[in-house]
Amino acid sequence: MQKTPTVLVTGGCGFIGANFVRLLRQQRPQWRLINLDKLTYAGNLNNLTGIQDGPGYRFVRADICDTAAIEGLFTGEGIDMVVHFAAESHVDRSITGPAAFIETNIVGTFTLLEAARRHWLDGEGKPAAGTRFLHVSTDEVYGSLGEEGFFSETTAYDPRSPYSASKASSDHLVSAYFHTYGLPTLITNCSNNYGPYQFPEKLIPLILRNAMQEKPLPVYGDGRNIRDWLYVGDHCEAVLEVLERGLPGRSYNIGGNNEKMNIEVVTLICDILDRRLGLPEKGMTRRSLITFVRDRLGHDRRYAIDAARIREELGWQPKVAFEDGIEMTVDWYLANQDWVEAVVDGSYQEYYTKMYGDR
Ligand code: NAD
Ligand code: TYD
Repeated sequence: MQKTPTVLVTGGCGFIGANFVRLLRQQRPQWRLINLDKLTYAGNLNNLTGIQDGPGYRFVRADICDTAAIEGLFTGEGIDMVVHFAAESHVDRSITGPAAFIETNIVGTFTLLEAARRHWLDGEGKPAAGTRFLHVSTDEVYGSLGEEGFFSETTAYDPRSPYSASKASSDHLVSAYFHTYGLPTLITNCSNNYGPYQFPEKLIPLILRNAMQEKPLPVYGDGRNIRDWLYVGDHCEAVLEVLERGLPGRSYNIGGNNEKMNIEVVTLICDILDRRLGLPEKGMTRRSLITFVRDRLGHDRRYAIDAARIREELGWQPKVAFEDGIEMTVDWYLANQDWVEAVVDGSYQEYYTKMYGDR
């Protein structure tokens, strides 16, 4: 009989990690789940209310760069699988302060890979049964597209921000551990996510919070940069498919087949909120809050994913249409304004003022 797996999820208190922890508790309740998170500004225990420590779940506050802490978990908990979300994840912060990205995204991933190598491979380099290391990455490693084309798994890496460069480095380390040592690794490269529990420094939750409060809505450059938006629940389901059925050594692109210009996303949010909350003032819609601001340095123009591999090999496809997902997301943020204000602490206010001025 197969042993019940113990899964180490890193970054399970962040946006996608928390959605994944919830999915796993619901869909694989028999698995033991260890959630390791440093609780940076982006990680919040409020993202996991209702999920309690017990036989099936344990939260550990630690840094993925802390070799002793990681080693202790592999030894003490008998980790079978790793799903590695923990990262510094915001491009703008990587431009103003890249050092943390190098530390967490590169050194942290290396620390986890080394622990898995020590614990999972026998003298001949054969992995223990049931072991898998899934590294969650981004489409931003491929760089920026022109008007045509899509990123596939064979597109050459061409990262252009400190964030994407640090994620690309970690992807290369993960694939090196497969090719060199035979570690059973998997990589997913996903497009932009949106949905509940996203920290309000990323486009959609930032615009939502500001539009609810009738504050200026900062749009970078001409607003015509394109992202391929995917509902976070669809991403989490894809990660679980790859974890269970993906081929070790492979990477899988995950996307929403849903390209939108930033300005389209922002105007749509304005219109939904006008309908839900009424106009800010008679004759004034929330679109009038849109403020074009200085462009991001090195701003990638377009991302778009070709998700044929995951569709053909694993049968995964997104279930949530953007029009529905964005309505659900607006409703979630309207119903959870306390959550938003609780995660937005003094350090966020400082960051926001530095980015957009005092308004
Ligand atoms: P997030 O910033 O919301 O959460 C990151 C989590 O990692 C937080 O809980 C934080 O506390 C934790 N963390 C940070 N540094 C740590 C460290 N040194 N040790 C332990 N924990 C640490 O990020 P997210 O948006 O949920 O993204 C999760 C992963 O998915 C990242 O690897 C990111 O690159 C990738 N990704 C994100 C998107 C997206 O649209 N958000 C798209 C594709 C891929
Ligand atoms: P973001 O959510 O930071 O994700 P990423 O940079 O990883 O794609 O930004 C999404 C897009 O929105 C990107 O083109 C930058 C733009 N943007 C704005 O126009 N205004 C904002 O306030 C933010 C945060 C982003």
